[in-house]
Amino acid sequence: MTTRTFKSTHATVSMKGGGYYSQRTRGAKDVIDNAVGMLEDAVSALPAREGEHSIQIADYGAADGGTSKHAIYRTISALKDRYPHHQITVTYSDLPGNDYSTLFRNVTGVNDDDGNNYLKDFDNVFVYACGTGFHSQLMPDQTLDIGFSATAMHYISEKPCQIPNHVHMVGASGDALDAFSLQARDDWNRILLSRSAELKPGGRLVFMNFGIDEDGCYLGNTGGINMFNTFSEIWCGLHEEGLITGDELADATFSQFYRTLEEFCAPLVEPSSGVYQSGLRLVSAHTGVVKCPYRAAYEAAGEAMSAQEFAVSYIPTLRSWSETVFATALDTARPEDERATLVDLFYQRYEDRVAADPIGHAMDYVHCYLAIEKIP
Ligand SMILES: C[S@@+](CC[C@H](N)C(=O)[O-])C[C@H]1O[C@@H](n2cnc3c(N)ncnc32)[C@H](O)[C@@H]1O
Repeated sequence: MTTRTFKSTHATVSMKGGGYYSQRTRGAKDVIDNAVGMLEDAVSALPAREGEHSIQIADYGAADGGTSKHAIYRTISALKDRYPHHQITVTYSDLPGNDYSTLFRNVTGVNDDDGNNYLKDFDNVFVYACGTGFHSQLMPDQTLDIGFSATAMHYISEKPCQIPNHVHMVGASGDALDAFSLQARDDWNRILLSRSAELKPGGRLVFMNFGIDEDGCYLGNTGGINMFNTFSEIWCGLHEEGLITGDELADATFSQFYRTLEEFCAPLVEPSSGVYQSGLRLVSAHTGVVKCPYRAAYEAAGEAMSAQEFAVSYIPTLRSWSETVFATALDTARPEDERATLVDLFYQRYEDRVAADPIGHAMDYVHCYLAIEKIP
């Protein structure tokens, strides 16, 4: 009997580097930009902080920093209005393999000064990066004022098993779904307890995470063609044609869990939970859908854009965050160029499906938005 070990969970999580992520992920930026008001509210709600010299903010799961740049600019601007004499630190956190080089290029505006250069526009702002992952405490006790995170905490710290006959927990059932649910519940507690330790009394968290809304909708499943089912069908098709092995078929399981609003809120509202007892309280919670910008552009263009052009514009946004799952599922005994060809074929087939019949294809973003405070 052969024993199979899972690939490192972290290796399957990272975004496509070299700036690909934020250049092709306009929807994620739209989600953050739409929620800037939540960050400004958090600034208004902070205590006076008169006896301190510095304010700390953090972006957890920042990728290359491009999608949150405008929101961080607005947060710093609001902080400077309220605390004109304080110094401000911004800590970008992600996993060890993240493209921090592109992050610092984006933040400093080396490549492209898009008008959100807070380092240029404000004095006394200091930027750091932390690559150890948000399931643990990342900064000393009671040093954080505002913690922000977008579209990142659906990543679980460990894949508890592979999901049979599907690539994502949204298609799981039975023991596999139970194992993912348990992992996600433990991880959410760890995330909250870690942030609770980091936060100063009166500090705030603003999180917008992928989730499942009251209508059962989630990313890429808002009434049209289900994106994760499409991934699964195309990956299975490669196996049926003998192009990938059974192990490679099984290894393409996303290390993700989409929580419901109830699951997000439970530890924050149950007085017996460790999170509640640590002093975290729910300020607000709601779900929201942000429309797929690539679909919206296609619909707005009318006859000026063909189905083929839509498909070509749409697939890269899926690829920016999903490619590592399929690329790392392939056996490393295959030559690198053979693996790259298979991954290209996989996305080409998705593009061909969209081009042949674009109806119902869209990656609408479904998020649970949370504002949380640490009681003073
Ligand atoms: C879809 S991207 C979102 C990036 C950005 N926040 C946005 O909204 O556009 C998810 C990010 O979370 C990061 N991530 C996943 N698990 C993480 C962990 N345990 N700790 C820190 N970052 C993590 C990934 O590496 C990736 O950069």
